Amino acid sequence: MKIPQDWIFEKLKAALSEKFGQTDHIPIVEPCSNPSFGDYQTNIAFLMASQLKENPRKLAEEFARIIGENSVTFYPEVGGNGFINFKVKPKAYLNAFLAIRSDPRLGIEQTKEPQTIVIDFSSPNIAKELHVGHLRSTILGDVLRRLNLFLGHRVIADNHLGDWGTQFGMVLLGYKKYGNPLDLAEKPLEYLEGLYVRIQKEAKESESIKEEAKRELQKLQSGDSENLKLWDVFVHASLKELDKIYQKLNVKFDYSLGESVYNPMLPGVVEALLQKGIARYSEGAVCVFFNKDFPELVDKPMLIQKTDGAYLYATTDIATLLFRLSNWQAHKIIYVTDSRQKLHFQQLFALARLLGINIQLEHVYFGSILGEDKKPLKTREGTSIKLRELLEEAVNRAYQIIDEKRKDLSEDKKREIANAVGIGALKYADLSQNRILDYIFSWEKLLSLEGNTAPYLLNAHVRICSILKKAASSSCGSTLGFTSLKFETDTLHPQEIELMKAVLSFKYSLFLAAKENSPHHLCNYLYHLAKVFHKFYEQCPVLGASTESSKQLRLAFCDFTQRTLSLGLELLGIEPLKEM
Ligand code: ARG
Repeated sequence: MKIPQDWIFEKLKAALSEKFGQTDHIPIVEPCSNPSFGDYQTNIAFLMASQLKENPRKLAEEFARIIGENSVTFYPEVGGNGFINFKVKPKAYLNAFLAIRSDPRLGIEQTKEPQTIVIDFSSPNIAKELHVGHLRSTILGDVLRRLNLFLGHRVIADNHLGDWGTQFGMVLLGYKKYGNPLDLAEKPLEYLEGLYVRIQKEAKESESIKEEAKRELQKLQSGDSENLKLWDVFVHASLKELDKIYQKLNVKFDYSLGESVYNPMLPGVVEALLQKGIARYSEGAVCVFFNKDFPELVDKPMLIQKTDGAYLYATTDIATLLFRLSNWQAHKIIYVTDSRQKLHFQQLFALARLLGINIQLEHVYFGSILGEDKKPLKTREGTSIKLRELLEEAVNRAYQIIDEKRKDLSEDKKREIANAVGIGALKYADLSQNRILDYIFSWEKLLSLEGNTAPYLLNAHVRICSILKKAASSSCGSTLGFTSLKFETDTLHPQEIELMKAVLSFKYSLFLAAKENSPHHLCNYLYHLAKVFHKFYEQCPVLGASTESSKQLRLAFCDFTQRTLSLGLELLGIEPLKEM
């Protein structure tokens, strides 16, 4: 289903080939940076002219002439810099809107080239509690999963649990020295983490404790049955707790294949890399050295086996990559971790190239969550904040606000709403930030009804739902059928046109968010849409519209905006409440 933006894109492509014959140039059509210039702009003439050493303005004028005035746009305007600006005819917006308004997918078709996309996210090191740092990977990855699924790809969400690392040496030793099964059963993660912290502290003071912990790890990794049995208990206890958090966040995985799964493959991986001459021994360890094809890695070898024979995080990731290729035929793998792992993934991706692996590999990294003091978010005591507690606090704070405002609701209903608002607000505060930047966490801001927040969007959604409800039950009672309606374009109000333009660009916000793996584009879009809707609603009476057909059209705008907000929120993993 074509919207004006698609149409302009196609006209431009046709104009390009008319002028240059076959060309690989793909015009980018985006909303005008300055709305007084028009609706959409393209810099294609500017780009091509600088390549061909021509005058950009002249080239732009030539394209404008080829496209001319037509059923969708007025005669294109050329800016001084060679940008071409298009103003869409109201009728074209209306036609596009009427064509998609009954489509459950809101006019967004599934991709014709579905890919298998593996998304590796959340992936905490277990036997420790989830901390606030894990929040970003978990919810970012979840949104990428939802988005790509909606766009029609085959998505495999894989939680690459850290279930085999050094923390288990500490926990095993701690449990053997101080542990007891009753405490473990009661609060597994908290308890294991306590043991971990205790041994870690002891190990800092005593070399022999450090050695002992290392021995426990080695015993585990070489298959000692007592340690394996304990490990299994720890892993299951951790997973149970983790699941509770994922449930609260409404985050799902297709697989949770932890590092331990790949352990048996590691000797083979190192052997194969040695044989191919990609890795070599260096001072007793095995390393991959990169040549000048990878300039930023020339003096940064990748260690894959230590002198004592131990394998590393990197070795496991190589095995994992090979597994995902051969078992799942992945076209693309997305890894969601914080930005401190940039070098690790640069090395992994470079190694994949050396192995002749040409699929898309993307490291989707993110910055830190900071406290109001601009330092990494910590509890007042200076320890890291547990994710479980953060979620509880979000829900409690939302509850207090709702309890105050909605005395009329039942207790259950209030809890239900508080849950959705609290978790939604927490997610949105994170997702609405450009992920590569650090951001400052503030309860006041994220729960505010004003500004780019989840409560603001939810409130807009709730308001529209109540307008639609009123319309359906009002005695003059024309409910929304998708009958063919006839409308006069010259009676359209400017805010109606703005609103159509806004709902129609939902598709491009999804494309951009998916292409850049950056949900904040979708958040910005939804915020814009909600604001445009408010303005429309202020200026254009819906139920009190002057004619029946205008009322029907305005109701259709309300309905479509509601569905857009609802789908947008769902793609962000936020429950689109109908009441709040
Ligand atoms: N467990 C790691 C950590 O907590 C993240 C793993 C990310 N995924 C991967 N395939 N390396 O830092």
